[in-house]
Amino acid sequence: FARQVLAGLRVLITAGPTQESIDPVRYISNHSSGKMGFALASAAAEAGAQVTLIAGPVHLPTPARVKRVDVKSAREMLKACEAAMPCDVLIAAAAVADYHPQTAAKQKLKKNPQNPNGLRLQLVCNPDILATLAQRKDRPFCVGFAAETEHLLEHATSKLRDKNLDLIVANDVKRSDIGFNSDDNAVTLIDRQGQQTRLDKARKSEIARQLMGLIASHLPSPING
Ligand code: C5P
Repeated sequence: FARQVLAGLRVLITAGPTQESIDPVRYISNHSSGKMGFALASAAAEAGAQVTLIAGPVHLPTPARVKRVDVKSAREMLKACEAAMPCDVLIAAAAVADYHPQTAAKQKLKKNPQNPNGLRLQLVCNPDILATLAQRKDRPFCVGFAAETEHLLEHATSKLRDKNLDLIVANDVKRSDIGFNSDDNAVTLIDRQGQQTRLDKARKSEIARQLMGLIASHLPSPING
């Protein structure tokens, strides 16, 4: 980096999927690899930030000069984020499960082929980590991700408003050449004024570096000096 655009700033990043237990051996999760969030953590550290990375279950090495906290469920991720506050910038790249099973069985659930209803799982909503932190008095500058399969920019813009964010990164997860497990991504950054910046397909590490520059340029002046 020519310029340490985030020098001295405390940056909190969430990454990866969450796992929501059904019983001691089973869980509900999703296809997130954590690669984008880890690339963001690495780029933020390179840009001079003090980085805390709250990671769901992923198979990735911890980037240099990054403090990593491993969690499993969305509720654990929220607790870990709250424990890491206050911070200057929050980047929520985790693919947080929307629901968790109402009760996690203490023992392994037994299969019952005689039951005509199969197995019914009651799911209850997880807390929205990003929206929760964006509501705090000591609210950081909040950057969200919107992974969508259709109406990408419209849905991303609604999320920016609904969650009270400063920036949102719109990510088309329908394209198979980018997103989820890929090493590449292509995104559109949208700010509160509705201004859009497209970042064409590139390595996630490169997208992450470009995003740090854009985030830094959007920070209010008391933060970025
Ligand atoms: O509503 P949706 O899940 O699409 O929102 C995506 C954005 O919100 C991402 O930045 C994601 O990390 C964050 N999020 C969160 N907690 C949730 C759900 C989403 O922090 N429970």
